[in-house]
Amino acid sequence: MKCTTEQELVKLVKRSKPFTKDGKVADYIPALEKADPDKLAIAVYSKEDGCLSAGDVGETFTLQSISKILTLALAIMDAGEDHVFSRVGKEPTGDPFNSIAKLESQVPSKPLNPMINAGALVVTDLIHGETSDEKVGRILQLIHDMTNNSSIGINYEVADSEFESAHLNRALCYFMKQHGLIDNDVEMLLEAYTKQCSVEVNCKDLARIGMVLANEGRDPETERKIIPRYIARIVKTFMVTCGMYNASGEFAINVAIPAKSGVSGGILSLVPNQMGIGVYSPPLDPKGNSIAGIKLLENFSSQYELSIF
Ligand code: DON
Repeated sequence: MKCTTEQELVKLVKRSKPFTKDGKVADYIPALEKADPDKLAIAVYSKEDGCLSAGDVGETFTLQSISKILTLALAIMDAGEDHVFSRVGKEPTGDPFNSIAKLESQVPSKPLNPMINAGALVVTDLIHGETSDEKVGRILQLIHDMTNNSSIGINYEVADSEFESAHLNRALCYFMKQHGLIDNDVEMLLEAYTKQCSVEVNCKDLARIGMVLANEGRDPETERKIIPRYIARIVKTFMVTCGMYNASGEFAINVAIPAKSGVSGGILSLVPNQMGIGVYSPPLDPKGNSIAGIKLLENFSSQYELSIF
C-alpha cells in the first residue's frame, strides 16, 4: 500500500507546528530542559517505501519511557512471560506515570503495568546481567538490531542528570525491594534504568523500531526474527492500553493506533503489518506526552484512515 509521500509529511508537519507553542519541556530531569521547544519531526517506515521523513529529523533525543517497550520485550525473552507477569500486572492505572499511590493499596504489592515507572523498574531488574553495564549492553544490542543502526549509544549527560535527581524512582525501588519485587541492588538497577532511558535516537530510529513491531518482531528488510511474535503482540497491546499513561483512552479514540511516549517529547507509534512511525516535539502536556507530537499523529492517522479499530 502506498501510504504517504515526503511532500504530504511536510504539509502535516506545517499543520501541526503551531501546537509546539503549547505545553512545557520536561525539567524534572534537569538535562532535558535544554531541548529546543520549536523542533518538530516525523518519520514513517514501511516495507514499500523505506523511510520517509519531514521536519527536524536530524534532531536526536533520549528514549525515556519509550525504552519501556523494549525492556519489556527483552525481560520476557530473558525471564519468561510467567515470571515477568508474576511481578508486574497487565492493567491500566488512570494515575500519572510516576505515581506511588497504588503500590501500597494493591495487596500483595505489585505495579499495575510495565509502562509506569514502578513496573518498568521491576522489568529492568529481570533483564539478564550481573552489572548495570551488562544489562544496558543487552538493551543496546536489541536497539541496534531493531534500528539497524549500531552507532546508537547513551547520552551520559542525561543519564547522570536523571541518576542524580531520581528521588521518586529511588523511593519506588526501595519500596518494591522491601516487598520482594526487586532482586538486585537498587543503585545498580537505577543506573541501568537511567541509562536505558538515556539512549539517544532520532525519529527514523523510532520508525524502524515501530516497523519491526508492526512486522511481528521481524526485520523488515531481511525478515530475520528479532523478537518472538507473541512478545511483539504483548508489547503492542500494552502500547494501546497503557502507552500514553492516563491519556491512553483518549489517544485510542483520537489517534487509534498503538503508541508509546517519552518525556523527551518522542513518540513511537505503528500500524500493525504496515508501518512504524516516529515523531518528536519536546513540549509536553501535564500528563507527560508531547502535544504537537500527538497532534501530528492524529492528523496523520485521520488523513490515511489508519485506525486499527
Ligand atoms: O523515569 C522517568 O521519570 C523518566 N526517565 C522517563 C519517564 C517518561 O518518559 C514518562 N513519559 N512520558
